[in-house]
Amino acid sequence: MLRQQINPGLELRLLQPTDAPALFALVETNRQTLRTWLPWVDATTKLAHSQKFIAEALRDREKTRAYAAGIWSSGQLVGVIWHNRIDWANRVAFPAYWLVPSAEGRGIMTAACQAVIAHAFTQLKVDRVIVAVATENHRAAALVKRLGFTPISTLKKAEWLYDHFVDHHIYQLLNPNHPTRPL
Ligand SMILES: CC(C)(COP(=O)(O)OP(=O)(O)OC[C@H]1O[C@@H](n2cnc3c(N)ncnc32)[C@H](O)[C@@H]1OP(=O)(O)O)[C@@H](O)C(=O)NCCC(=O)NCCS
Repeated sequence: MLRQQINPGLELRLLQPTDAPALFALVETNRQTLRTWLPWVDATTKLAHSQKFIAEALRDREKTRAYAAGIWSSGQLVGVIWHNRIDWANRVAFPAYWLVPSAEGRGIMTAACQAVIAHAFTQLKVDRVIVAVATENHRAAALVKRLGFTPISTLKKAEWLYDHFVDHHIYQLLNPNHPTRPL
């Protein structure tokens, strides 16, 4: 996915090296809130870290088709949605995403996820999409349920968040057009 206009005020666009200052500024301004659920925030302390994220995402895209897109609302970068990885042997995509707090509550991420999932099912042709949500991250759980994901398991102590472990609920969404193999 290079670029997708979701509606007149909302666009997904592949992150480019020139977006690094805007991305870093977003993290810098919102780090206290973002670090509640995102493990990489404290390690993102300078522009070079955002540059590295974008460079690695562009490299991954070349190798695996996993990409990172910025979410632009009314021309402002408000978050990121990307594939942590795509498991091609098993045709599974593992997206991840975040929004700054000021952009929450308007359906932006629901629309962004719908676009990324539709792309994964129709263009990448994966069989399913899997996301992990911390068990206490109720906003993220509401999002995946709104998108039609179903819970399939729970991982205890799945992720270290700075000074404590969190458990994860694992959710999946199956490709309705591509039921190639029994699960
Ligand atoms: C998880 C996260 C992306 C959810 O953001 P969000 O704003 O709740 O999700 P959306 O952008 O889809 O907005 C949904 C809200 O907009 C409302 N909304 C308004 N118009 C809407 C529309 N057209 N479609 C859907 N929802 C709409 C919904 O009712 C909901 O409101 P509520 O919060 O009062 O229930 C965000 O909280 C976040 O980035 N958190 C930190 C990082 C994180 O946890 N990432 C996920 C790790 S698994």
